[in-house]
Amino acid sequence: MINNQRVVLVTGASAGIGKCCADYLTLEGNRVYGTSRRANSTDSEQRSSKRNLFRLIQMDVTNDSSVKKGIDSIIARESRLDAVVNNAGYAIIGSLEDTTVKEAKSQLETNFFGALRVCRAVLPIMRRQRTGYIVNISSIGGLIGLPFQSAYCASKFALEGAMEALRIEVRPFGIHVVLIEPGDFKTEITQHRQLAVASKRNSAYRDIFNRVLRTVESGERNGPTPELVAELINNVISTKSPRLRYTVGNISQRIAVPLKKILPSRLFESLISGSFQAS
Ligand SMILES: NC(=O)c1ccc[n+]([C@@H]2O[C@H](COP(=O)([O-])OP(=O)(O)OC[C@H]3O[C@@H](n4cnc5c(N)ncnc54)[C@H](OP(=O)(O)O)[C@@H]3O)[C@@H](O)[C@H]2O)c1
Repeated sequence: MINNQRVVLVTGASAGIGKCCADYLTLEGNRVYGTSRRANSTDSEQRSSKRNLFRLIQMDVTNDSSVKKGIDSIIARESRLDAVVNNAGYAIIGSLEDTTVKEAKSQLETNFFGALRVCRAVLPIMRRQRTGYIVNISSIGGLIGLPFQSAYCASKFALEGAMEALRIEVRPFGIHVVLIEPGDFKTEITQHRQLAVASKRNSAYRDIFNRVLRTVESGERNGPTPELVAELINNVISTKSPRLRYTVGNISQRIAVPLKKILPSRLFESLISGSFQAS
């Protein structure tokens, strides 16, 4: 480490939680690399003048060679990588019936396989160092099935299971694996959300779907800004022995996680259905 500065990679740092987190970790004294599919090239690593405080590099987490190229460029420069935040992601919305297998696969390709690709690329480096943090941005929707978000929830449930397993595998190498489960935050996830194409047609679910969509969007637009997540991640990578899971966001949403464990399942279902106006 140079001057005790940690080297941190944040995927999906052009907007929202990722950008906020990369800026925050830079201000905390870390050497931060953020990624975007739209950054020019790995050669044009830059402290992009006004908008970002960190270096933005090109990476598409759906592409093996793009992930390898991005991580190789960091190692060429820093010779180490202390923490990775698997954040890149998007959300698709639509009833399960209206969501094609292609749309669902594409959701998992970014949100789940994207994180898996990055993990596989950084693990040999962290194992050699015998230290490292892999922090994954999951969701409360990674613990609770949310109506009209089946593919999104599937991608985050998959991430939850894989990282729970990975945590045990890599503990002997001094690598910590953590899951962060945010509730709704005000980010560009709302504008970037993809609607299952069939949900725009004359779907049988149209009325309920439109209500749920409005509820989801309003939750995000009125949600907290992502500094809370950035602060939490900074604490996690500064902790010797972080927990596996941390929820973050409005208590009215976080409370659903313990409630799922204690309430009878029918009662819990109707609470979720009511809160999304899905009935
Ligand atoms: N906001 C919320 O309410 C909320 C709640 C729970 C969980 N989350 C999770 O938080 C993470 C960040 O979401 P956000 O709310 O910050 O959304 P956002 O504002 O839309 O930002 C998404 C970021 O992900 C990047 N990205 C998307 N697809 C990518 C790909 N294939 N390869 C590389 N980068 C990709 C985007 O970068 P480029 O387009 O520049 O490549 C962008 O920087 C996601 O995993 C999301 O599921 C968000």
